[in-house]
Amino acid sequence: MEREQLQALLADMSLEEKIGQMVQLNASFLGNNDTLITGPMGTVSVDADEVKLCGTILGTAGADKLKELQKQAMEGQPHHIPMLFMMDVINGFQTIFPIPLAQGCSFEPELAKQGAQIAAKEAAAAGLHVTFTPMLDLTRDARWGRVMESPGEDPYLNSCFAKAMVEGFQGSSLSEKGRISACLKHFAAYGYPEGGREYDNVELSERTFRQDYLTGYQGAVDANCRMAMTSFNSLNRVPSTANRWLMRDVLRGEMGFDGVLISDYAAVEELIPHGIAADKREAAKLALEAGVDIDMMSDVYLHYLKDAVEAKEVDEALIDEAVMRILTLKNDLGLFENPDKDASAEDEKALILCDAHRQAACEAAVKTFVLLKNEAQILPLAKEEADGLLVSGPYADSRLLCGSWSFPSTYDNIPTIRERMTEAVSGQKITFTEGCSLFYDGEIVKDHTMEGMNPEQMEAAIAETVEAAKKAKNVVLCLGEYYTQTGEGSSRTSLQISQNQMELLRRVSEVNENVITVIFSGRPLEMTEIEALSKAVLYVWMPGTEGAKAITDVLFGEKEPTGRLSMSFPHRAAQEPLYYSRFQGGRPRTPQEPRGFRIGYIDIEYRPYHSFGYGLSYSTFNYSPVSLDSSEMTANSRITAKVTLTNTGNRRATETVQMYLRDVSGSVIRPMRELKGFEKVTLDPGESRDISFVIEEPMLRFVRMDMSVGSEPGRFEVFIGADSTTENGTAFVLK
Ligand code: BGC
Repeated sequence: MEREQLQALLADMSLEEKIGQMVQLNASFLGNNDTLITGPMGTVSVDADEVKLCGTILGTAGADKLKELQKQAMEGQPHHIPMLFMMDVINGFQTIFPIPLAQGCSFEPELAKQGAQIAAKEAAAAGLHVTFTPMLDLTRDARWGRVMESPGEDPYLNSCFAKAMVEGFQGSSLSEKGRISACLKHFAAYGYPEGGREYDNVELSERTFRQDYLTGYQGAVDANCRMAMTSFNSLNRVPSTANRWLMRDVLRGEMGFDGVLISDYAAVEELIPHGIAADKREAAKLALEAGVDIDMMSDVYLHYLKDAVEAKEVDEALIDEAVMRILTLKNDLGLFENPDKDASAEDEKALILCDAHRQAACEAAVKTFVLLKNEAQILPLAKEEADGLLVSGPYADSRLLCGSWSFPSTYDNIPTIRERMTEAVSGQKITFTEGCSLFYDGEIVKDHTMEGMNPEQMEAAIAETVEAAKKAKNVVLCLGEYYTQTGEGSSRTSLQISQNQMELLRRVSEVNENVITVIFSGRPLEMTEIEALSKAVLYVWMPGTEGAKAITDVLFGEKEPTGRLSMSFPHRAAQEPLYYSRFQGGRPRTPQEPRGFRIGYIDIEYRPYHSFGYGLSYSTFNYSPVSLDSSEMTANSRITAKVTLTNTGNRRATETVQMYLRDVSGSVIRPMRELKGFEKVTLDPGESRDISFVIEEPMLRFVRMDMSVGSEPGRFEVFIGADSTTENGTAFVLK
């Protein structure tokens, strides 16, 4: 439709119809019994006529089902406006890729783009139009459970992934086959709640908010992301969903977002418990005035907006503006001409979990694994020695490899490590034991009562594994967090795996010195003891549908782990929040004065245990000193910084070359390092290559003392190396 036609349609709609477009319910309200109502809508009754006017549906997929729902919905609508079907397709639809935090560790945005393309194809075939991805909340506190959903702690890396994911989902036109709309979330700064506590207030200075926290979301806006979602948190004591400045001035005005803004789940109604709205009518007014176009899963717009307009408490023009945006999105998806878009049972069959998608998920997983330790090059293991290998631990034969946002997938489709390893070494016999269960039977983790071993069974399982370990040449222990220990509603004060798993590791490492620990998790954990007890540690996050194959390939050296940490790891949880781009302070620690009245703690190192960017490979690399083609630059010139990278090991391998800048002195304090460039380079043994990065003035800009954004003349340091702690650097001057 042309814009004028959309405007004519809008002009012809009744107030009820318009408000209906602004309401998102889930399919249970349409009589679909396989969707669950959680939150306040569980107690609200919505009559059939109201449901008919509803413009979008959450959380249901399936080509035939959605075609039928679309038909019914359009028949019931006075203007036969098609529905939008939305769902959280986060790291895959049914072919599940590694969690977003793991994808961040690939330092390969193209990988996230391919994953998004595949997810979009599967989701579109299943009838969906919108996914609530990418999540770009900067994550600097590992206690917060949702760190798993973000690419990580760095603004620049986040913005690269944001762009890639939006492009992957949306392509160049939403109406193209296999494309769905992306939705950036959660606006804004949800990743920094006080104390890491889920849903708590976020206190951030406007300077830090603008400097670090907006960058990722901006990447998505620049890539023309068609939707955005508000966040549950309050920012500096104003709930986002009612924050007019944040949504209208910053997101739309300054950042240039012109798509549809949806609330998070029931967040409009939650303005009441937040203590900012006295009742639902006030909540409706606040959210609308803040610019929230769609109320997800509360009845606030549905039941209270009309009265507020009629009482002249809110301006109908705001409703028209919101509805126009929603109609425009429907139009951009081509739904007026083709209401079922790509929904096709045939395509679902052909595409979902097809070999090509599984293979892509496997290749992606390999690139997200971070090798944290590899003493004496114990990894990779020789396949010929598989007879002497013991594989144990609760993840050794588990299908729960996908993370908490993979509900459209079914576990039967996920091979276990035991299955994939057995296939890989046909003819030889790896010994497998259970080792222990993740938790004791009956322990409560989040809202689940865990099934597991009782204390006697646990002891017997550990003892059996210790006996097997005595005879084994190498032991692989597959340990980790349960998949619901990260994700929404999963903040933790402890960053450890369960004590029974630690007991297994301690006792096995007493009898076998070749323990290789594989850790499954959705967040950085405390790794000090685990690494001390293991000869090698491979961090595999929640690796997805083909995670087991990827792990098998990496352990046996068919593939190389190339991931680098996109979140810093603490020595202890008490160090959180923690991130690499910190400040030196007025009393820095120096080699001459490592302690005393210096920045940090008296009991542990204040820097991360493993800093952002860290990760080993199966080979070793040498960096030449950094050279610059000029030691001075101006706002209109550029400098090229160069290193020569050499593979000094004996395997072909990939290194992630990282460039960091430091503004030595500014009108406000500047971080000791900021990532400004990276490149993945694969070299043969002995091969060298020159790697260059161009430095331009926009890379030196920041939020200055007077809140304007720009650079300041002076000295800058440039570091190029293997991670954010590199000291391989030189300096230049900006005139
Ligand atoms: C989450 C969002 C999600 C929404 C819809 C909320 O609880 O915070 O990230 O998109 O539910 O499922």
